[in-house]
Amino acid sequence: MLSVSKRALRVGIPSRRSTSIVSTLRYKSSWSTAVETAARLVTPSSILKDPISLVSHEMSQLAANIGTLIGSGHPTLNRISAYYFESQGKKIRPLLVLLLSRAISEIPLEQRNRIKIDDLDIPEQPVYEGTKSLGAILKEQNGAISPLRILHGINPNIILDPLTKPHETLPEFDSKRGILPKQRRLAEIVEMIHTASLLHDDVIDNSDSRRNRPSGNIAFNNKMAVLAGDFLLGRASVSISRLRNPEVIELLSTSIANLVEGEFMQLKNTVFQPNEDLIEEDTKKIPQPTGAIDTKVHEYSVQAPQSIQGHEITHEQQVDAAFEYYIHKTYLKTAALLSKSSRSAAILSGANEDVIENCYQFGRNVGLCFQMVDDILDYTQTSEALGKPGNADLKLGLATAPILFAWRENPELGELISRKFKQEGDIEIAMEQVQKFNGLVKTQKMAEDYCHKALENLRNVLPESDSRSALEFLTNAILTRSK
Ligand code: FPP
Ligand code: MG
Repeated sequence: MLSVSKRALRVGIPSRRSTSIVSTLRYKSSWSTAVETAARLVTPSSILKDPISLVSHEMSQLAANIGTLIGSGHPTLNRISAYYFESQGKKIRPLLVLLLSRAISEIPLEQRNRIKIDDLDIPEQPVYEGTKSLGAILKEQNGAISPLRILHGINPNIILDPLTKPHETLPEFDSKRGILPKQRRLAEIVEMIHTASLLHDDVIDNSDSRRNRPSGNIAFNNKMAVLAGDFLLGRASVSISRLRNPEVIELLSTSIANLVEGEFMQLKNTVFQPNEDLIEEDTKKIPQPTGAIDTKVHEYSVQAPQSIQGHEITHEQQVDAAFEYYIHKTYLKTAALLSKSSRSAAILSGANEDVIENCYQFGRNVGLCFQMVDDILDYTQTSEALGKPGNADLKLGLATAPILFAWRENPELGELISRKFKQEGDIEIAMEQVQKFNGLVKTQKMAEDYCHKALENLRNVLPESDSRSALEFLTNAILTRSK
């Protein structure tokens, strides 16, 4: 397995470490290597012997807690829903939410009065008219507001098996750690949404492996993988609603829609094929609208420069539009969940607008950095090292940052990009051109810029603390990881 610095050497990035360190780390897991590398980039390093340990209590319970949220009445559905949680993923998203929650808790309470901080398992809220308080209803019904017979959709006379109960109550507040039960649940929800998207993504990408095991579509099949993803989303939605915070509900629901928008932008690139009315591979026409439903393309869609009539479009403008499209797609596909969950963590803590906004920007910047590094690793790492297919993007016809940088230098690459590298030899030419025009180094530089912006967001609003240092450390590890 390649270490972080080995990869840095391979893409021509100046290593921050000596060769002797490189060789001693070569055989360690690449994630732990990234973590060690990052520790060296953060000061003071003395408090960072094991930064993740600050939330190890919560992290150790994450999978088990998620397990209580995803039990169903069908054994095979249970198997596939739990499948990706069984293997060690990076768990970046819950780690960030938990560390951020802890770091925000260092802000004095009197400065966190935007909303009343709710450290109860589930708050009493007057959402129900009636004689019983909501708290009493929730207690009786294991956290549910609607009667369990409604939620389960089964004969009310049969005794409910604990497996079919939709939810456990939220975990208790651990005042010493400063992480609220709702923030802990938020971390679980985010991992569930992410996992649902991976189950779907592996079907879309026709992948064969994930986390060093056969991917869900292979170990089960496409139909089951899609349904299990849908099921996880359904259960995540129940948990989201039980956070009882309309702002957070809105944010997290939007992040699910964003994932789909991002994936769609990737599937059908409107900058490269602006007037394309075919589905894929020239096989099928997109049905024309009947006019019965008036849908609207939102103003945040990225316009193809060819569509600006009466203007001569330069190569530079085309490449700029492609980069704008790439960044927006990357935000929706990867950074939206991180930015919106970081914002949610801040909202739940009662923090003020400035903190909320910086947490949101932090999630956005760290998310963009994360995906750009992912796009580099797709070029540099083997499937064995990644535990999932390597060199997949070009094969899938995807033009990510490294090839866009090469295209800026060599306009002829535009043809390969728009035919999705389908002609024999296209992929080899693309790889060679990326190398020739330093596409990987330039992408790494762009990822570094986002990493620095993310660190700035943290330092703007969070008081110095071990948790903030741990977050800085993790942010650096995301940049220097090799897996
Ligand atoms: C991994 O990308 C995939 C994502 C970051 C998001 C995928 C989103 C969807 C499939 C939309 C549906 C969403 C939900 C919530 C069901 P990648 O293929 O670049 O990374 P990989 O190499 O890990 O597969
Ligand atoms: Mg994929």
